[in-house]
Amino acid sequence: MKAGLKEEGGDGTLSRIDTSVSLAGLSMKTPVMTASGTCGYGLELVPYADLSRLGALVVKGLSVEPRRGNPPPRIIETCGGMLNAIGLENVGMEAFVAETLPRLADHETFIIVNILGESREEYGILIDRLGEQEGVHGFEVNVSCPNVQKGGIAFGSDPDTLEDLVRYLRERTQKPLIIKLSPNVTDIVDMARRAEGAGADALSVINTIRGMSVDPETRRPHLAMVIGGLSGPAIKPVALRMVWEVAAKVKIPVIGVGGILSGEDAIEFLIAGASAVQVGTAHFRNPAACIEVTEGIERYLERHGIRDVKELIGSIQLDPSPGP
Ligand SMILES: Cc1cc2nc3c(=O)[nH]c(=O)nc-3n(C[C@H](O)[C@H](O)[C@H](O)COP(=O)(O)O)c2cc1C
Repeated sequence: MKAGLKEEGGDGTLSRIDTSVSLAGLSMKTPVMTASGTCGYGLELVPYADLSRLGALVVKGLSVEPRRGNPPPRIIETCGGMLNAIGLENVGMEAFVAETLPRLADHETFIIVNILGESREEYGILIDRLGEQEGVHGFEVNVSCPNVQKGGIAFGSDPDTLEDLVRYLRERTQKPLIIKLSPNVTDIVDMARRAEGAGADALSVINTIRGMSVDPETRRPHLAMVIGGLSGPAIKPVALRMVWEVAAKVKIPVIGVGGILSGEDAIEFLIAGASAVQVGTAHFRNPAACIEVTEGIERYLERHGIRDVKELIGSIQLDPSPGP
């Protein structure tokens, strides 16, 4: 069967539904991707989820050298979500190229590598090395990392630094370049426009929201690093609002990320203007979450007699705005 087209049997409602979307030049079979860092390098999901049913797999963030990450405790459950301060632990680009990438090739889906660096040059090295690999179909750039050349301020929290980084990376690759925006900024729309202007092909909205949690008995923070990134259903309304605001102001596709647990959650993001979605923290509760979200989208399309998922993108119904 052609990718993205699903045959429906016998009940006479729909004979075929089209779940394919086009994103940054990639024709994905479904709008559902994994969110970086929540399912390792993808292979961890194989016992639970058929990766070939995914629109794309976004792997855990990779740096030039391996990173050990932060000391524990690094994860704490919160009401409706979790805080993490993993510290971007990863095996480094060479181990990924030698050991993981060849095994990912067995799965018929797009492989997007999430990259992180502490300087513009580090991101450049990652783009050069990983970009020459046939099995790497695109990049997602985590700009929430501290820029050591600018006193540790995150790339994604200063508009000029972000623009400079995206332009630098754009010159180095023809492969799809997705910029993953941080919500920890005053004006995410400005960041989105800067990334678009500098040549980004798509935007992932959002990364985790900075938060903290304290044990009232010991008066100690639950995380060794005190502050961590909040994710899960608790952040969905914030993510949805940011996706809606950004999608209204840029022409490139927006990928909705934040608190998606079900098909309906994903549909909300599509209606708000996202062209695709990523499923993250949901995998900690259910490693097949990305597939269940995909099936939930299909059921929604059937139930509403919608033949093409693309009809939903940006289809939000708004009352005429009240006068001043
Ligand atoms: C444990 C953990 C690790 C993460 N690692 C990364 C990462 O390496 N790179 C990145 O861009 N985002 C990372 N994220 C952020 C997620 O990809 C996602 O943007 C965020 O969790 C919001 O989506 P969710 O609520 O569906 O999890 C991580 C999130 C979690 C919970």
